[in-house]
Amino acid sequence: MNPFIRTAWRLVVGASALVGGLHGAAAQDAYPSRPVTWLVPFAVGGPTDAIARTVAQRVAAELPQPVIVDNPAGAGGTVGAQRAARAKADGYTLFVGHIGTMAAAPYLFKGLKYDPLKDFVPIFRFPDTPMVLLVKNGSRFKTANDLLEEARKKPGQLSFGTAGVGSSSHLAAEHLAATAKVQFTFIPYKGTGPAMTDLVGGQIDAMLDQTNVSLPQIQGGRLKALALTSQSPMPQFPGVPTLAETELPGFLASTWYGLYAPAGTPPVVVETMRAAYMKALADTAFTDGLRKQGIDVLPNDRVGPAPLREFAVSEQKKWERVIREANIAPPL
Ligand code: MLT
Repeated sequence: MNPFIRTAWRLVVGASALVGGLHGAAAQDAYPSRPVTWLVPFAVGGPTDAIARTVAQRVAAELPQPVIVDNPAGAGGTVGAQRAARAKADGYTLFVGHIGTMAAAPYLFKGLKYDPLKDFVPIFRFPDTPMVLLVKNGSRFKTANDLLEEARKKPGQLSFGTAGVGSSSHLAAEHLAATAKVQFTFIPYKGTGPAMTDLVGGQIDAMLDQTNVSLPQIQGGRLKALALTSQSPMPQFPGVPTLAETELPGFLASTWYGLYAPAGTPPVVVETMRAAYMKALADTAFTDGLRKQGIDVLPNDRVGPAPLREFAVSEQKKWERVIREANIAPPL
């Protein structure tokens, strides 16, 4: 072969090997190249688990890999949060944080082993879920007033189920007790799913839970909704008043959630997940399905990492004050 042609041929082969190599590396590095786990820190079947699985499934439809939900439950979600904070920051373990684990926990748990703002990076904020005050169907409490009146007469004698200290159901119940000036005995569970089983079974008197999992139980006749914690009544709960318009003017409670990654996670992970979620939000079948469960789908400009961080900071300030004023004792 003519030396000039040989050299040119070598260059072509070398260049295509380089291009092939780059393609191989890019394909290997493209995120996600294997299933991603979302840690959900409450029991299977509860409201956090339910909304996380719904969102995970829809987000995964925009990704080349599945999203797997794992439930390390306990201690008001802080067991899972701690595990997520220590996970490898490679984008394959993400965390579904919420009002309790990301805002209230630092003021409730003295030796908390993670810092919600420093140990995590925000990815996107889920839709919010209002709550509903529940009793067993056939309970002697027919209205919120019945329940609060008895609690007033018999301080500490009514049992109130929660998903553990610092969970959303606990924070809302403490807020309710402080606002109504009553005392309940709080019974902690690993999630409101198991608390609801005991409510239906008559082992506890009442609980507050998110609308998404309560609705089928109310429609199925197992539970009775006494009142909503939303600003206005909701068409999904016909005939159910709000606490704000009846017993406790101005009383509002709602659960917010966000997807988080351990600090140090590459920005491409945050952007890939955020973009997948924004595509999901553009799908009206998805958002209508959430609204049917009483879930508040937020406007897009409140969903991204920056608004989520800003919101979590304001929520920390709010819960620090509420916890101090309500004198909510930290666990031992
Ligand atoms: C809570 O914080 O109360 C949780 O939403 C409970 C749960 O998901 O089980």
